[in-house]
Amino acid sequence: MNNELANEIRSKCDIVDIVGERIPLVARGKNFFGVCPFHDDSNPSLCVSREKQIYTCFSCHATGNVFTFLMNYEHMDFRETLHYLGEKVGVDVSNIRIAKKNTKFDSFYEAYQLSLKYFQNNLQSKIGKDARSYLASRKIDDAVIKEFEIGLSLNANNDLVRLLSNKNYDLANLNKIGLASDARDVYIDRIMFPLYDLSGKVVGFSGRIYRDNGLNKYLNTKETPIFKKGQLLYHYHVAREECRQKKSVIVMEGFMDVIRASTIGIRNTVALMGTALTHEQLQLLKRLSTNIILCLDGDDAGVHATLGIGDMLLKEGIEAKVLVLPNPDDPDSFILNQGKEKFIGLLESVVTFNDFKLRKLKETVDFRSDEETAHYINQVLIEATKVKDPIRIEIILKKLAKEFDLSYNTLEMRFRELEKPKRSETKVVVTYKKQKKTKYEKAMEQILYFMLNNDWVISLFEKERFVFPNEASRLLASEIVYYYTTYGSINIPDFYTYVQDKEEIVGFLNNILASNYVEHTSRDELFEYFGVIREYSRTQEIKRLTNSLQKEVDPIMQARIAEKIRKLRIGDK
Ligand code: UTP
Ligand code: MN
Repeated sequence: MNNELANEIRSKCDIVDIVGERIPLVARGKNFFGVCPFHDDSNPSLCVSREKQIYTCFSCHATGNVFTFLMNYEHMDFRETLHYLGEKVGVDVSNIRIAKKNTKFDSFYEAYQLSLKYFQNNLQSKIGKDARSYLASRKIDDAVIKEFEIGLSLNANNDLVRLLSNKNYDLANLNKIGLASDARDVYIDRIMFPLYDLSGKVVGFSGRIYRDNGLNKYLNTKETPIFKKGQLLYHYHVAREECRQKKSVIVMEGFMDVIRASTIGIRNTVALMGTALTHEQLQLLKRLSTNIILCLDGDDAGVHATLGIGDMLLKEGIEAKVLVLPNPDDPDSFILNQGKEKFIGLLESVVTFNDFKLRKLKETVDFRSDEETAHYINQVLIEATKVKDPIRIEIILKKLAKEFDLSYNTLEMRFRELEKPKRSETKVVVTYKKQKKTKYEKAMEQILYFMLNNDWVISLFEKERFVFPNEASRLLASEIVYYYTTYGSINIPDFYTYVQDKEEIVGFLNNILASNYVEHTSRDELFEYFGVIREYSRTQEIKRLTNSLQKEVDPIMQARIAEKIRKLRIGDK
């Protein structure tokens, strides 16, 4: 374990900065508050504590330290968070090798890594000559081939399946993850583009034809346990950091577009890979940046998709921007034919989604007809009701008044009319029912919370040989004691790092951290809490004994149990 290193990194960064770089925080008292990104909400229920270096959501009970925040928010694994933060705060992380958690998918990822290497070798070997010249003809040079790990599948004797089988990969599993179809290779004679999951692991392929053979242009990996198209965005793992720097994310249709944009240094991009935007993908996009630039193909299908995605984003309160490409260019062909400067020119002259939508609407209207004109004006007003910014609304109305020589008042009246029904729309708010805790549960959790905040409580707990009556508390307490004896003192964020792999403990710990307990205590108060628990243990024991007394048939045993109960009852007083 790399606990010391993790603790050093953690102590050098401030959770308020790390969270604050990602979601807006407002200071209130000692703490900072923001909208929790881990559940659907618009209330500031996420509390970030600079003092404790943890975050807690009072609504969904998400909690943890800076590492867990990044793991959950950025979909990084622990090692990645160490790298990311280590580099940020200047701790040498070059040889971090944390014992990787074995997941049940590890062998799947390995099979993909082997396939990747196999495809890459093919492309570089003699047999890859035609494919290489196809790529060259599309101006995809060696650097790009390397960066995007492009390879080649062969028209050979199911070589890949054979190779993987020889390495003891089970054929049933290869079928399951889309690397075999029965006992045959899935990809035959295609240029292979690896597809990545959110953390950058290869989990699928898209194979493109490179000679005219009448087959589908692209063949993609089917849905598998590790490849769920609707939950991924191509290039997300790279875009993550780029989007933060550029403060925007550019959405494209195909991965070829992303690859091309990268050749001119634009990497804050993701691709949808030919699917409609799903709700999950939308949430991912929002995490990259709320400044979203739609840069889909310039053809009708692209315009249609732009309108659909733009509307979806509006419903989330985000007005996207649109980079308009000439029909029928896609970003790839435009950059290739017109060059970097022209594309950057377009990027600098993006229009707001509402303007784009109205422009598209306008293209279909015959303004010689009063009826069509009136319909158009009404449509514009309807669109304006979706805009949240009152200043933008006024601008839209003023422009409209000027353009059609109408009075501003008439337009505004109509606008208010159209706006009305929306007001009554009730927002669905997810609420989390808090389970009522008993007095004993509260006492147990409070004691554990005291332990987490005060070394002396742990010592006393040990000295008293105090034992909790339930498993979860016993487990957590023993980890606290172990941590304390190993490291000499305790603090919550570092303890968090230590237990992060222990699911049973993390769940219970979260529950305690989210419950607003008091941090500090006195010896007397602590003994009162111990008393509450001891009394509880005693009543539980009496209950248990009474139960077995009723079932006991042997009179000698009965007498013994009764004696035990009597002693416990005396202890009560
Ligand atoms: P496009 O047809 O726009 O691909 O499809 P492209 O990026 O321009 O590719 P080139 O330039 O012809 O090589 C966009 C996306 O739709 C998916 C792919 O993921 C592609 O990136 N698609 C397209 C398929 O899955 N299958 C197809 O047959 C075509
Ligand atoms: Mn293309």
